[in-house]
Amino acid sequence: MSADLITAPVRAMLVLGTRPEAIKLAPVARAMALSPLFEPLVVTTGQHREMLHQMLDLLRVPVHSQLDVMRDRQQLSTLTARLVDGLGEVVRAERPDLVIVQGDTTTALTGALAAFYERIPIAHVEAGLRTGVLDNPFPEELNRRLIGRMARWHFAPTQRAADHLTAEGVPGAEVFTTGNTVIDNLLWVLEEGTGRSLFRTRLRRVLVTLHRRENQGAVMRSMSRALRRLADRGDVEMVLPLHKSPAVREALLPELTGHPHIEITEPLGYLDFSATLAACDLVLTDSGGIQEEAPTLGKPALVLRTTTERPEAVEAGAARLVGTEPEAILEAAVHLLDDPAAYARMATAGNPFGDGHATDRIIAQLAEDFGADPDDGDAAELVTTRTEGPGSYSTA
Ligand code: UD1
Ligand code: UDP
Repeated sequence: MSADLITAPVRAMLVLGTRPEAIKLAPVARAMALSPLFEPLVVTTGQHREMLHQMLDLLRVPVHSQLDVMRDRQQLSTLTARLVDGLGEVVRAERPDLVIVQGDTTTALTGALAAFYERIPIAHVEAGLRTGVLDNPFPEELNRRLIGRMARWHFAPTQRAADHLTAEGVPGAEVFTTGNTVIDNLLWVLEEGTGRSLFRTRLRRVLVTLHRRENQGAVMRSMSRALRRLADRGDVEMVLPLHKSPAVREALLPELTGHPHIEITEPLGYLDFSATLAACDLVLTDSGGIQEEAPTLGKPALVLRTTTERPEAVEAGAARLVGTEPEAILEAAVHLLDDPAAYARMATAGNPFGDGHATDRIIAQLAEDFGADPDDGDAAELVTTRTEGPGSYSTA
């Protein structure tokens, strides 16, 4: 075994391509940029174009390399192939000390695969989420399970997520329960922030987002009918920032365009979105990240899906999994709007996704495994063995 002395900071490549990845990796990039122990190399895949660009300010780190893979209505197979190819080149050119991916998108899966092919260790942020249904959400449940087979560090947001990983055979020594970095970012933004809420009236304020692939088409069209009926009550002001996906727009716009109580907007920047979330009374969503943010701000969330990989919020009482049937959606929303006691129970249930210090734990663990003392702060002291150091797997 030959020890390879590193006298420069650990070069950590952060691969991100979609809106939620930028939001959830932003605190990691910011912290690494402030630490002498790390050099963050941000690689954007461009899986999302507009929705990613509007988030890049959060990183406070310039983008090191960028791909431009987005095509209108791109097939998953094409997207995956182009991403593995493009990311493979970037990873080969830079040879970072580790690659960090987040969550379960195609960008995250291919970032991990590109790193694995170059034998570069992978850190997975937001590891261990599972619905237990391989094709729901589609294709994310498969993506995260596959990343779980490749990663060297599994940063699980909750104990339950960590338990999923160990139950699947990931060695306990490679799994770390950290909390979710989305909370770190939300708290940072609310402190820094100057966002503007889109709600304009004193009516009951309902914030809606929908985008999941498994719901696109007939299911999402029928959900739009439930939203319209809710807005028809007349005492509701609904704000709907629309995902850029054309399939989402085709499903929602015919029923909802022009309704006097529904404001449909382009995707909001994170400052305005978090201000709008903070100002709302009720959230209806199929988003992953918003299921985590809403309880942090005491906003009851109705999850318009048939499964969730975030049951912690449901069990805490902060969220309800209401499914995709219009009647069920309408009934659940009306119940909360009309029953102050039920509303108060959900609004005060609390947030099970972390204390805002997930990033600190991730950075400290990586620093330790690369042989650095995070409190020491001296990059010249970094020592690691590249042959049998953090890159080697203890999994059989
Ligand atoms: C993707 C992720 C999903 C994540 C979601 C976050 C995969 C397989 N899915 O959803 O896990 O929850 O992002 O929002 O990785 N488009 C634009 N501009 C943009 C973004 C998208 O025009 O800024 C359009 C394009 O036509 C694109 C389509 O939307 O082809 C869908 O984008 P895509 O990244 O495939 O979204 P999803 O897979 O639905
Ligand atoms: N978000 C945003 N602007 C919007 C809608 C959502 O900034 O108009 C943020 C939201 O706060 C959350 C993230 O985007 O952090 C969620 O992204 P999305 O729902 O697209 O993806 P998911 O979390 O489901 O993967």
